[in-house]
Amino acid sequence: MRAISIQRFGDPRGLAVVDVPSPVPAPGQLLVATEAIGVGGVDAVIRRGTLGGYGFRAGIIPGSEVAGHVTAVGDGVDPAWTGRRVWAFTGVGGAYAEQAVARVEDVTALPEGLSPTDAVTLGSSGPVAHFALAHAHFTEGESLLVRGAAGSIGIMAVQLAAAGAAAPIAVTTSSPVRGDRLRALGATRVLDRAGEGPGSPAEFDVILDIVGGPDLPSFVDRLADNGRLVSVGVVAGFPPDDLGAKLITSFRRSRSFATFSLDTVPEPTRNSVREAQFAAAVRGDLVSVVHETLPLVEAAEAHRKMDAGEVFGRIVLTP
Ligand SMILES: NC(=O)c1ccc[n+]([C@@H]2O[C@H](COP(=O)([O-])OP(=O)(O)OC[C@H]3O[C@@H](n4cnc5c(N)ncnc54)[C@H](OP(=O)(O)O)[C@@H]3O)[C@@H](O)[C@H]2O)c1
Repeated sequence: MRAISIQRFGDPRGLAVVDVPSPVPAPGQLLVATEAIGVGGVDAVIRRGTLGGYGFRAGIIPGSEVAGHVTAVGDGVDPAWTGRRVWAFTGVGGAYAEQAVARVEDVTALPEGLSPTDAVTLGSSGPVAHFALAHAHFTEGESLLVRGAAGSIGIMAVQLAAAGAAAPIAVTTSSPVRGDRLRALGATRVLDRAGEGPGSPAEFDVILDIVGGPDLPSFVDRLADNGRLVSVGVVAGFPPDDLGAKLITSFRRSRSFATFSLDTVPEPTRNSVREAQFAAAVRGDLVSVVHETLPLVEAAEAHRKMDAGEVFGRIVLTP
């Protein structure tokens, strides 16, 4: 089958089209013929070689979510899955390919009316946004800042928080055009990447942070009393080592910093939220924002666009 592999960590030119043997589903796994492949911010972080601790080696196939139909099942998997349209999490890697394997517990059936493209735009980012807001104990009426809102996780967080919220929902973004698009999805205050802009609240009850990087401590300073900052991503790299000092020196404010990973949510819980979000998308209650669809062989171009900051929402690859 055709796939994309990271031949060299660094810039997008390190991604190459390769011919590799089709994967064979192990016990407990399904084989999916891919029809849409999500290009996530994490794929770019891995390709750059800046995500330490995972021991990635050159030659890996990147990507973690696909949608398509099941063509084979491994031992122990109900054969009734064969032929069904599904969304699947492939783990960290394995998705940029014509075929991919996934554990059966990481697969969600697609409802009638949801395209594979929409599924890979919502399938991972929707549950991340949902459980990250829950992790922050975000409740209606609280003020929220979504930092790095123009990616697929931020876009979902804005939509989920906006449903029924009375207090400001602020976003950081890099351009007025993106700000207008985020307003259309439910944001009520559009701020620049530094968190400044007209009507910007001085402080927030909750900050959902997808960006990280050197500026993260300045956002800890923007937490209200009892405010909670939940770090969900590190698209700008890791924050400075002394981040904790900000919290300790302002201890009279009872602020909290936490990280959140979907890995800590049990699969059945994730799957039921994903099913509910897929159903909401079919009804039109949640919008999937697809920046562009490109052929699989243009994965390097997709990453170039991500690195250039051109992407609003998600790029989807099709084999
Ligand atoms: N917690 C979990 O369970 C989980 C699961 C999956 C992925 N992730 C993480 O989530 C992140 C990717 O999320 P995503 O795909 O939604 O994000 P993304 O699309 O890669 O980036 C989101 C936005 O951040 C802004 N941004 C980019 N670089 C920036 C910088 N240097 N400074 C300030 N803003 C910057 C950009 O918007 P503007 O140009 O408009 O500012 C961009 O659209 C990765 O770090 C990944 O590891 C976490």
